[in-house]
Amino acid sequence: MFLVPRLQQTPGWLSRPDISILRPRMHSLPPANISRPGGTVTLASEGESAGNGATPHPGAADVISTTALKKVYPGGMVAVDELSLSVRRGEIFGLLGPNGAGKSTTVGMLTTRVIPTSGSAVVNGIDVVAEPARAKQVIGVVSQANTLDQGLNVWENLYFHGRYFGMSAQASRAATNDLLERFRLADKKTAEVEALSGGMARRLMVARALLHQPAVIFLDEPTVGLDPQSRIALWEVLGELQDEGQTVLVTTHRMEEADEHCDRLAIMDHGRIKAVDTPAGLKARLGGGASVTVRADGEIEKLASQLRRAVFTTEVQVVDGHVRISLPQAEGAMQLVLAAAQAGRFRLTDLAVSCDNLETVFVKLTGKDLRE
Ligand SMILES: Nc1ncnc2c1ncn2[C@@H]1O[C@H](COP(=O)(O)OP(=O)(O)OP(=O)(O)O)[C@@H](O)[C@H]1O
Ligand SMILES: [Mg+2]
Repeated sequence: MFLVPRLQQTPGWLSRPDISILRPRMHSLPPANISRPGGTVTLASEGESAGNGATPHPGAADVISTTALKKVYPGGMVAVDELSLSVRRGEIFGLLGPNGAGKSTTVGMLTTRVIPTSGSAVVNGIDVVAEPARAKQVIGVVSQANTLDQGLNVWENLYFHGRYFGMSAQASRAATNDLLERFRLADKKTAEVEALSGGMARRLMVARALLHQPAVIFLDEPTVGLDPQSRIALWEVLGELQDEGQTVLVTTHRMEEADEHCDRLAIMDHGRIKAVDTPAGLKARLGGGASVTVRADGEIEKLASQLRRAVFTTEVQVVDGHVRISLPQAEGAMQLVLAAAQAGRFRLTDLAVSCDNLETVFVKLTGKDLRE
């Protein structure tokens, strides 16, 4: 039995508002106690790994748990370094990090696609390294790359996925038709997948990930390539799934999406976790101040040194050709920077002051802009 009526309003682009795709679950799960976590901050100092197991959420069991998980690729690249991470049942957990941080490698290890060098990873009680076949049954994956089967059409991509996962022909057909309707792909069902737009292909991948009713879904940059309306609708779908008890792990470069939709976030850089908390917790702990961005003609490093002396803070970084200064408050920041730049005879080309948000928290932790 796949489908039950639902009462909630569904996004406009989902054309079967009375149908739910994910109840009841195929896999027997412990009772879920789902509420939005309000845990406290777990922060790591520079160069140190921080797990998030230190702030248990009452009643919520960990559905993903890694211990000292490590991946060293051939050639010696340490992509993920002793990662200890816990994701609680029913939460939307975001993995944020700059390019090359190790997000996809982490997702790859948790979904059996990448074999860890050392450490352990348990998903829904199953050791993913020891029992990859069982682990695959309880996970749904939307990879960063398009992994649709180019030899199958749209409908077949879903149907055979269901069959591969042990669903009966009838159940797979019903679920396929339902998901194509919900994801507004029904009119494309006989299309070759290479004929789909990037956004449609992504929607089909999300639908496929949900088809066998996994206990956890992993989405690696799921909203890349989607138009704004589809992005909003996708997050609404993820929110609905969460309401039904679904655990979601998502990587995203979009700070505003992470801020708005994730219960907790891990900020990752160089294969390590720099901080784990709720978006509000991260901002409260690391934000509250202001960031000043300065661009100028001339040697940017010299300007940074000048500003460091002038504002009496070491929180001055050179990021992508500009200087970024973190200050405890916005008031007076502009005058301070202008005076310092003039004293050093720098000609400013841009000066901006902004109150801290998740993006500035991210820059403070990693020294990098998230977007390229
Ligand atoms: N198959 C591979 N062989 C060797 N090195 C790899 C391989 N896959 C990834 N890497 C390296 O491992 C590091 C982490 O890569 P990964 O793809 O996990 O990062 P990411 O955070 O997902 O980045 P992005 O935001 O660009 O998707 C990078 O330095 C990358 O070049
Ligand atoms: Mg990636």
